[in-house]
Amino acid sequence: MNAHMLGMAACMLMTAGSAVAQQGDPSAALDKRSICIGCHGIPGYRTAYPAVYPVPKLGGQHAAYIVRALQAYRGGERNHPSMRAIAQSLTDQDMADLAAYYAMPREGAK
Ligand code: HEC
Repeated sequence: MNAHMLGMAACMLMTAGSAVAQQGDPSAALDKRSICIGCHGIPGYRTAYPAVYPVPKLGGQHAAYIVRALQAYRGGERNHPSMRAIAQSLTDQDMADLAAYYAMPREGAK
């Protein structure tokens, strides 16, 4: 095996490792969701900035969709100022945990 192939193998291992690390843990999100509840926990809530704006409901959405949305805010593909600032403060693990938490079916999901 030459150095190039070794490099590729190491790269594939790292990719597999990070996929495992990003398994969301809903119980870990209990500490992290306090920041989200201020907006997403209030049924029918609207933010006043940059315009009066409805806040989407997170409870019951698919985990993969929630992670994708947070990454899009962090990367700038989605451009809502408050969500961008929040997503930039989250690690990949935070996103996975929060997504797993919000994707869980619950009574009166918030
Ligand atoms: C300041 C109020 C506020 C806070 C705090 C907040 N959000 Fe949001 N969030 C919004 C608004 C408003 C939108 C809709 C923005 C848009 O249309 O792009 C949104 C959108 C989202 C979306 C996309 C939903 C969809 O249906 O596309 C996700 C996912 C999300 N927020 C997750 C979170 C998480 C997780 C937290 C806590 C770490 C959080 N938000 C904290 C106001 C907030």
